[in-house]
Amino acid sequence: MRKLTIVGAGRVGEAAAQILAHQDLVHEIVLIDVKEGAAAGVALDIQATAPLFRFDTRLTGTTDPAAMAGSSLVVITAGVPRKPGMSRSDVLDTNVAILDGILDQVLRHAPEAIVLVVSNPVDVLTYRAWQRSGWPRGRVLGQAGVLDSSRMAAFIALETGLSAKHISAMVLGGHGDAMVPLIRYTTISGIGVNQFLDAAQIARIVERTRHGGAEVLALRKNSSAYDAPGAAIAEMVEAILLDRKAILPTVAVLDGEYGERGVAMGVPCVLGRSGVERIVPLGLTDDEQAQFAVSAAAVRQDIARLPGA
Ligand code: LAC
Repeated sequence: MRKLTIVGAGRVGEAAAQILAHQDLVHEIVLIDVKEGAAAGVALDIQATAPLFRFDTRLTGTTDPAAMAGSSLVVITAGVPRKPGMSRSDVLDTNVAILDGILDQVLRHAPEAIVLVVSNPVDVLTYRAWQRSGWPRGRVLGQAGVLDSSRMAAFIALETGLSAKHISAMVLGGHGDAMVPLIRYTTISGIGVNQFLDAAQIARIVERTRHGGAEVLALRKNSSAYDAPGAAIAEMVEAILLDRKAILPTVAVLDGEYGERGVAMGVPCVLGRSGVERIVPLGLTDDEQAQFAVSAAAVRQDIARLPGA
């Protein structure tokens, strides 16, 4: 498990590559981008920090998809980002076409790989990638919940003044405004977060989490978030490449779990060297289950818009 490819050398791909290089986790990181020189430039820039951060990972960048050959994991971050005021679904048509092209290259050059989809709308694109690949569903997964949960935990740390290190949040569902932050499964050092926050504070944090990506985009104007998305990718890559068996909220193709099928969305999964090794069932209240169904319906609506795979 020593070669990793990141397709898309934009800010998210770069942030992920940088963090993963610092972790010295793999021998080789290949960055691929259609824009001439973009991936090579990013790779060279990060490589130059190796003596400072003391890592031996070799980074290369190219426009040639064949360079992904032999990768155990391919992370797809390529796509057009949204602009302020746009929803993640607004970039669907363009990004489906981009994803299809990349997926075909993965099928040709890295047919044994695990695919981690990051481009938006991530739930729909993860489903699309799985459909088009014809692979077992555990080998095609998406990143959303690690980012959303990290945002929620960070907001809880700010609100309580307590250490972020010991806050564990759980956000399930689709990576959209209908995502489902699960307060009952959110803890500070194992203690339910209800103990520290009143209902109004919790409602505020849930709302802020749901719009966490949009808040950054509205502030930066010319860029979506990339530091937190990059770190979230690194967390998932590490769980897979080091076979950690970590339980992380993951965009997974559902086949009856959580009462849904024919859709991909965020559920807690055991991640290890085979990708999604298990989907962890959680007892949801009627209200939580209803929120999950609303989120699933939103994802399903976008899936229905997809051209034939
Ligand atoms: C976010 C976008 C990138 O949540 O989906 O920041």
